[in-house]
Amino acid sequence: MQALDVKCMVLPDVRNDFPFFRDNQRIYLDSSSTALKPASVMNAITDFYLHAGSNVGRSNHQYAQLSTQLFESSRNKLACFLGCSADEVIFTANCTDSINLIAHGLALGEGDHVVVSPLEHHSNLLPWLSRCRVTVARLDDNGCIDLDYLDSLLAADPARLVAVCHASNVTGNVQPVGQICQIARARGALSLLDAAQTVGHVSVNVEQIGCDFLALSGHKMFGPSGIGALYLRRDLQASMQNYRYGGGMVNKVQQGDVSYQSGPGRFEAGTPNIEGAIGLGAAIDYLNSLGGQWVQEHDQDLERYFRSQIQAVRNIEVAFPIAPQHLPIFPLVAVGKVDIGFVSRILSDRYDIALSSGYQCNQPLYRNSGINGALRVSMHLYNSRKDIDTLMMALTDLQDLLA
Ligand SMILES: Cc1ncc(COP(=O)(O)O)c(C=O)c1O
Repeated sequence: MQALDVKCMVLPDVRNDFPFFRDNQRIYLDSSSTALKPASVMNAITDFYLHAGSNVGRSNHQYAQLSTQLFESSRNKLACFLGCSADEVIFTANCTDSINLIAHGLALGEGDHVVVSPLEHHSNLLPWLSRCRVTVARLDDNGCIDLDYLDSLLAADPARLVAVCHASNVTGNVQPVGQICQIARARGALSLLDAAQTVGHVSVNVEQIGCDFLALSGHKMFGPSGIGALYLRRDLQASMQNYRYGGGMVNKVQQGDVSYQSGPGRFEAGTPNIEGAIGLGAAIDYLNSLGGQWVQEHDQDLERYFRSQIQAVRNIEVAFPIAPQHLPIFPLVAVGKVDIGFVSRILSDRYDIALSSGYQCNQPLYRNSGINGALRVSMHLYNSRKDIDTLMMALTDLQDLLA
């Protein structure tokens, strides 16, 4: 591993914004699984229950109007955050739901071809495998999607869709998504980005990236669980098959005569997760209050510091190559045969360190590399160098077990 410059940066401590850390020394290194929630998100949800509490888009009383206004204002915030229009943002249940909406919406069948990468979470693999023919692209030596190979693959075997992650939830490597979407378009394919891991870490602008669809989960970007979103390019909406049918999606229904709403409403049948969307809006306000620059600098500091410190710990190593653009996510493997689930339990019980162990819903990547799962360290804005120091101390204590 190359030597890294680890000058200490002065960063404001946001740990106090997260009630999970009140009066304790917990070390939470599982943010790729789900991020903790700041007090402002919890308060926004409670305020909704206290002051609005009604359904959206249905009734005319003042509380329903307030609910609708708060709900739609979250859609606007998310649109600004992603660089698109509000009518291109569809609220879903999570990233998985967003991807399934596209798999269904494109009416993919056995005759269709979709290209994915070897890095895909099961959520961006099974929706395609269950419907159509899937080809897996290749990675380069940095652990990023090999662009030349992708281009030649699409030239030889045209696809309807290229569906790849913006960053891997296992390796943390950020993919060259602008170029991937450009190649897809040039070869006549649509592009879908699974941005579950990146939104909230790096700036994501759908127009600049040039993707057709982008899926995200609210809970990984400090919002509540049960809310996700899909960016669906406006000019593609009319051709999409409906995913679900029910209340709130029509202009008129009479006998067999149905006229559907245009825009997000058509894809949001039934009462939506109103408090979830409002909480997600508060999460975006929180991220905006810190500033994207701060978040990225903080990530880089954690990333570099972790890499400089892990080198000194014996019998454990980072499982996959680290690309030049990399989130603070590290899959660690022991050199010995110890059960990593057991190691994670010791880290939790003895040191109050929470991290993920296993395959992280990414079995093909691990199995094809001959790796039987990993201890995944994933950090976010409430983590500090102190957390990394404590983890290193714990892993050093366990060095013999890892051998
Ligand atoms: C890259 C990636 N895609 C999709 C998902 C699925 O997210 P959710 O379970 O919130 O739908 C995850 C969750 O870990 C992920 O990391």
